Amino acid sequence: MNVILTQSYEESARKGAELILDAVSRKPDLLLGLATGETPVAIYRRLCEAYQAGAADFSRASSVNLDEYVGCREEDSYRRFMDENLFSKINIPRENITIADYAAPPEAEVTRLRQFFETHTVDLQLLGIGANGHIGFNEPDHDGLEAPVHISPLTQSTKEANAHWFADGAVPDRAITMGMGDILRAKSILLVVKGESKRAVLRELLNGGKVTTNNPATFLLLHPDVTLITEESLTV
Ligand code: GLP
Repeated sequence: MNVILTQSYEESARKGAELILDAVSRKPDLLLGLATGETPVAIYRRLCEAYQAGAADFSRASSVNLDEYVGCREEDSYRRFMDENLFSKINIPRENITIADYAAPPEAEVTRLRQFFETHTVDLQLLGIGANGHIGFNEPDHDGLEAPVHISPLTQSTKEANAHWFADGAVPDRAITMGMGDILRAKSILLVVKGESKRAVLRELLNGGKVTTNNPATFLLLHPDVTLITEESLTV
């Protein structure tokens, strides 16, 4: 794992954006795996700024999102988050964007997305991490983690961590997520860790050397091309 330590979240976001922009310039038709949450916000802002400055072109790029809530309102959806923070401000073609439909029958969406991953390989997967070590919505589970796209029941702690995104604080009970296999098949992975609540799972990742379904992010230790960017202060 290639670890980049920074002095601030803004510096983490700048370095993360640089890696994504470099990947897009080297392979203009790449498939980007995208994340939501607070962690990628400043990264996406920098991608938008690069595009608006004429320094980046997403016209041949494609994207697939890690996850989406099941049955949420449009204004609370990750689809809306992505439109507001990235898609509406860069020139990625609408037809090149793949994200689960929050309003569609979830089983049909799982089938559609499993088919997508049968024929597509993510070139660069951007990840945040949950305070309990989840990536996408692959929650810790003693019994095992699912490899393909699936419907994931959300833990109470994850619902509480994400409640501030919802106008009424009511987080759906379930989400559709890329599975651990989909994530680990990405050619390269960029994990950005932001926030005090991530200290414990970050330490396990940096020091442990042990892969455990109780901290799904530790499975990234099995991948040959992972870059982790985080603030140095979170690692001590
Ligand atoms: C959600 C998302 C994850 C994200 C995590 C961390 O649970 N499904 O993909 O990594 O939140 O979010 P934040 O970046 O807001 O800390």
